[in-house]
Parts: sequence; structure tokens; C-alpha cells
Amino acid sequence: MAFSPAFIDELIARNPIEDVVGQYVSLKRAGANMFGLCPFHGEKTASFSVAPDKGIYYCFGCHKGGGVVNFMMEVEGLSYPDAVRALAKRVGLEVPEDEQYQSRYRQQERLWALHKEAARFYHSQLYAPAGKAALEYALGRGMPKSTLINFGIGYAPDTWDSMVKALRAKGYTEEELKESGLVTVSKKNGNLFDRFRDRLMFPIIDVRGNVIGFGGRIMKKDDNAAKYLNSPETMIFNKRKNLFGLNMAKKSKLGYLILVEGYMDAIALHQHGFDCAVASLGTSLTEEHAVLLSKYTEQVVLIYDGDEAGQRAAQRAIPMLEKAGLQVKVLRMKDAKDPDEYLKKFGADKFKVLLEQSSNRVEYQLNAIYRKFDTREDEQRVKFIQEAAQLICTLPSAVQREVYGHRVAEVGKISYDAVKLEVEKAFKRRTNREKKQQEQQDLQPVKNLQPKTRAFYYKNMKSAMAEEAVLAMVMTEPALFDKAGELTEEMFSAPVLGRAFAQLKQRYFQGLEVAPGVLSEFTPEEMSHLVGVTQRHDGPVNEDALTDCIRTIRREHQLGNVNTDDDLLALQNKLKERKGLK
Ligand code: CTP
Ligand code: MN
Repeated sequence: MAFSPAFIDELIARNPIEDVVGQYVSLKRAGANMFGLCPFHGEKTASFSVAPDKGIYYCFGCHKGGGVVNFMMEVEGLSYPDAVRALAKRVGLEVPEDEQYQSRYRQQERLWALHKEAARFYHSQLYAPAGKAALEYALGRGMPKSTLINFGIGYAPDTWDSMVKALRAKGYTEEELKESGLVTVSKKNGNLFDRFRDRLMFPIIDVRGNVIGFGGRIMKKDDNAAKYLNSPETMIFNKRKNLFGLNMAKKSKLGYLILVEGYMDAIALHQHGFDCAVASLGTSLTEEHAVLLSKYTEQVVLIYDGDEAGQRAAQRAIPMLEKAGLQVKVLRMKDAKDPDEYLKKFGADKFKVLLEQSSNRVEYQLNAIYRKFDTREDEQRVKFIQEAAQLICTLPSAVQREVYGHRVAEVGKISYDAVKLEVEKAFKRRTNREKKQQEQQDLQPVKNLQPKTRAFYYKNMKSAMAEEAVLAMVMTEPALFDKAGELTEEMFSAPVLGRAFAQLKQRYFQGLEVAPGVLSEFTPEEMSHLVGVTQRHDGPVNEDALTDCIRTIRREHQLGNVNTDDDLLALQNKLKERKGLK
């Protein structure tokens, strides 16, 4: 979707970056810039900056940066066109949509409608004679009729093409059937047949209430078939971005969300009054899931299966959820494989007790360490205390460190002072290690100059440095474009820098605004890199400096140079000299 530059300019002009960012981050002014806590990584000192005059943000900690559109993309997890639409809506600006977008949207609407029809069809089959066994299975697993209705549970009959026929009868085209993922194409004769056959069907519904896919469970044990089969990824179904049950859980009054592994677990929880349960869709938790959850709650209780795989998955999920700003509690399943089984065995009241006892993630992780060692043996007790100290030293608050330090002292049967010493030692080791890594980096200045994203690796470092400088100069002082006429995109050794230069140059000569914030058609990684280039530039900004750089770029281009060890060594030495390291 290409929006006209004039429209994007107006959009940007009417959405000052400091206002938009200000809705998510509290900003304080310091000179021309504003600073706040980065919304994209956890931090306690403000390294996130906004430059209103340039229309950009940049984090000196995690190196994310871009214009106001990129900010919306990052913070709300939107595509470029959707971020544009959101900003337009914010200020009541009408979006000139092109034919392509409109046709894509119409296609999506058709697919949503198709899935609704499909869900209706599956649900009706549950009460048809062919669905008798499925209905019995569902009731047998403890789902009353009300649950079958609330969740729209259904049955995919054991035939080759009843779904194909049902959808065709409703007027859906062959293309649409294929795109839906509900049918597959025979390799032999190209005929369409149903993907789901003889399975209990769970509709997957997005937060806006659209049916976007299905999960289907076999009902008899069969080693040749997957227990659960899910819809493939389609235009409307992305497993990484959706959670089963969130359409209902988002309305819960309980004040937290419960995250479980299985569809049946989520359903059982809802049935027993825990209407805040969601499940991931047969994939492990993704960062997108964590961000999605953080839009609806501040606290997540993780309940993964008691087996080793489940516990490993929980350990993986904790940092992702915390990174999204969520408070995490973990409930370890005991005496039952999963929540569904637990509720069936012990009922809701007992589960509630378990839930109240669920530990915060530090307790949970301490317990996990404790279980690794047999603390009746002195040697293992020492190891337990040492490993626990490593965990405690990462806690940001002194109160937390003291509380958990006491806990470890108690279980480890030693004095609190001894634990405290061990924590301090672990802390020193950690900061030393980090300092060494930093020093190591400082000693290799050239390495620091390489872009953080591998894909933009500079193959001609000498030219790239000049290219970075040119870009930073024209973004600071656009009038310099008048002196850069001979420089063309092809001469750039770093394609991403060349593209940005060309786009800005064109804008300059069309009389449009030139600032990093107006760049479009760059990926978030590219934008972060480009904005970083201007933010880091600390050389002079004038015609002489520009001419110098252009000369370098031209010469390197003519010679067709790429980095050699000698070049890098020479550059390394020059930089060290400049930094006073030599
Ligand atoms: N899953 C999947 N494909 C499989 C097995 C599992 O996609 N072959 C996903 C499903 O989303 C399922 C979840 O992983 O809900 C958990 O799987 P599992 O623990 O095996 O099943 P339960 O949820 O306990 O299902 P049930 O109680 O029906 O056996
Ligand atoms: Mn189960």
C-alpha cells in the first residue's frame, strides 16, 4: 500500500511525535530533546529520546528508533499501513485508500464470513446423527451444553468433502476455499477435500470476535494422526499473534489473565468460573503474545503442564512476559497433568486455593533451583546457595533481595549475613563480567561501527563511514543537498544508506520536508539503523566536510573496494588514536 508523500507529510505534521509518544511514555524535556523510559526494553534510567524538531525517537539502550509511524508500528504491533491508519484516525484525517487495500479488505471480510459459516456448520453437525459419538465425547469430557454453545464447539464429519460442499452452497469460490485453509487440494487430481475430518472442532476467535481458524481434536487414540490439528496460517490467521479464549477473557472482571497450554484447559477454567483463561495455539508463547496480553492486563498467572516440557516452557515465557511489562505469577501443577484434569479431580474451590498460593516468578525460580539439589548434603547445599545468590543478585530492588535472601538463608540453614555476602559476590562477578565485555568492545572500535543488525553489515567500512556522515549532514542541514548533486544512490556501498539518501534527495528537490521522521518504506530495523546514524553523528556539518565524504565515497566506488584486514586495522588504529587509547 503506497500512500502519497503529501498525505504522509500531513499525517506526520498533525501527529507531533512528542504527543504520540507522550501517550505511552512520560517524557521530560532536556534541551532540544525529551527523555523517558524506553517502552521497548525494561530500564530504570531514561535512555529513550525524542527529538521533536527531527520528528524521531531513538533509544540509546536498545537502539530502536524511527519516526512517528514507526513508533506506532513498534508499540502497537501494527503493519506500516495500519499504523498510518491509526494515526489518521487519531487526528480525524481521512485515509486515501487504494484499490489494492480495498480489495484485500474485502477478501478478509469474505474469509471472516466464510469461517463463521464453517463454525455454524461444524456446530450443527454435533447434533446431527453423524455427530453422535462426538457429542458423547464432548459431554464425557465434562463440557455441558452451555459450554458447547459458548465456545461454539463443533464436529467435522468423517467424509471427504462435506465442508467443501457446504461452503460452495453458500457461494464461496474455489479460490476462497483454498485461501481459508479449511480445504486442501488433492495432488493427484486437483480436487478439493476437507482438511478436518472426524474431529471435535474448537473455533479460534480473535479479540474483535471474528472466527479466524480452528483446532480439531481426534477422539480415539490413533498413533498415526496428530492429536490436535490446527488451521494453517492464512491472511486472517496468525498463530503468533492470537490466543485462544482472549475474546472472552478480555471481558473478565478478575483483574488478571491465566495462561495455559491447551484448549481444553482454557475451556475447563472458564467453565469453573475462571473466565480469564487463555491458551496459546499449539505454539510456544511468542513476544507478540506477551505484548497482546499486556494490552488487557498487568498480571499473568502461568499454568503450564507439570511435566518437564511444560516447566521448561514456563521458564522461557517468564522473561518474555516481564519484558512486556507484565507481573508474572507461576502455578505449578501438582497431582494432575494439567488444569483440566485438576479441576475434574478436585473442583474449583481447591483450584482457587492453589491459585492463591501461586508464587511470584522469583519464588518459582528459587523453588526450581531448590529442587535441583539435595540440600541434606553439604556440598549440594553450598551449590544451592550459590545458584540462588546468582538469581537474587539480578533483582532490582533491595527489599526484594533482602526478602529472598532471608528465604534462602532459612532453607539453606545458614545465616542471612552469609547469604548476603554470597549475593554481593555474585553481583560483583556479574558487573565485572559486563564491564569486561564493554572494555573488550571499546578496544575494537571498528566492530562497534558495524550496524547492530547483521543484514546491514558494511562491506566497505571506509565508504560506509563517509556515507553515514553524508546522511547525517543532509538530515541536519537539508540545504547541503544543493552541494551533493553528483552523489547518486549507486555510489553508496551500503544499500540501506543509499536508499535513504535517494528518497530524501528527491523530497528535497520537490520542496518537501527532509528529516529522518519522514522516511517511508523502510523496515523497523532499517529505520532504527538510519535514525541511529543521525543521532550518533558528532562530526562537523558543513560543505567542506560533505565534499570530503563525497570524494571518499566516489573513490571507493570507482575502485570497487571491500573491507580488507589491512583497511580495518588502519581504521582501528585511527579511531583508537582519536579516542586516546593509543
Ligand atoms: N497441540 C497441538 N498439536 C498436537 C498436540 C498438542 O497443536 N499434536 C496443542 C493444542 O493446542 C493443545 C495443546 O498443544 O491444546 C496442549 O497439548 P496436550 O497437553 O497434549 O493436550 P491437552 O490440552 O491436555 O488436550 P487433551 O486434554 O484434549 O488431551
Ligand atoms: Mn488435557
